[in-house]
Amino acid sequence: MGKAIAIDGPSASGKSSVSKGVAAELGFMYVDSGALYRGVTWQAIRKGVDATDAAAVLDAMHAADWDFFVQDGAAIFSVDGDVPVQELREKDVRESVAHVAAIPEVRKFVVESLQSLENFGSLVMEGRDIGTVVFPDSPYKFYLDADPEERAMRRYRELVAAGEDEKAHEVMDSLKKRDKIDSTRKTDPLVVAPGAQVIDSTLMTLEEVIQTVVDSVRGE
Ligand code: C5P
Repeated sequence: MGKAIAIDGPSASGKSSVSKGVAAELGFMYVDSGALYRGVTWQAIRKGVDATDAAAVLDAMHAADWDFFVQDGAAIFSVDGDVPVQELREKDVRESVAHVAAIPEVRKFVVESLQSLENFGSLVMEGRDIGTVVFPDSPYKFYLDADPEERAMRRYRELVAAGEDEKAHEVMDSLKKRDKIDSTRKTDPLVVAPGAQVIDSTLMTLEEVIQTVVDSVRGE
């Protein structure tokens, strides 16, 4: 069995960039667990389901055909033959995903799917509950954090760069809302996993954070 590196933290804490960087440096597969929660949300929305209707979300999720594969060093999925990527970042998905991710049966489906990816080899997985629930026995657990203002500014710059017409205070509000739902939900809330190394990236460069994780995994 390969190594599973767990990188958890709140929205816009730098998890994606750090996880991709660590995966590239170690030659491991990169897995974005949030993409699968977004995928379940996207599937529900395109089936015309209200994301707050848990029973209907579950029906749409179970009725769909999910497949997982590796492409360009990352594990991705198809749903009913389509591979959503950009679609997962759209506003309607972003606004509903924390509700969908709070449904226990959705979490069970996603957690089991994520665990099965270990069969593909060593991986770096980013998320909210990777160190606590998906790979609790991994010796390589990290919790990335940064000040809320810094996280909101990072997300804002990302959205503006992607051509989205967003206001900074709205990004801050939406980030706060999502953090609150993620850290107070009953099933698998966002918490620091026992044994996780906490890294506050507010004043660190991306390279410094990547190197901190890589050194720790290599035992340096
Ligand atoms: O990381 P990302 O912002 O794409 O995650 C989208 C949403 O999916 C999060 O706000 C959270 O509700 C949920 N999520 C989760 N557990 C994970 C990853 C994501 O609950 N491991």
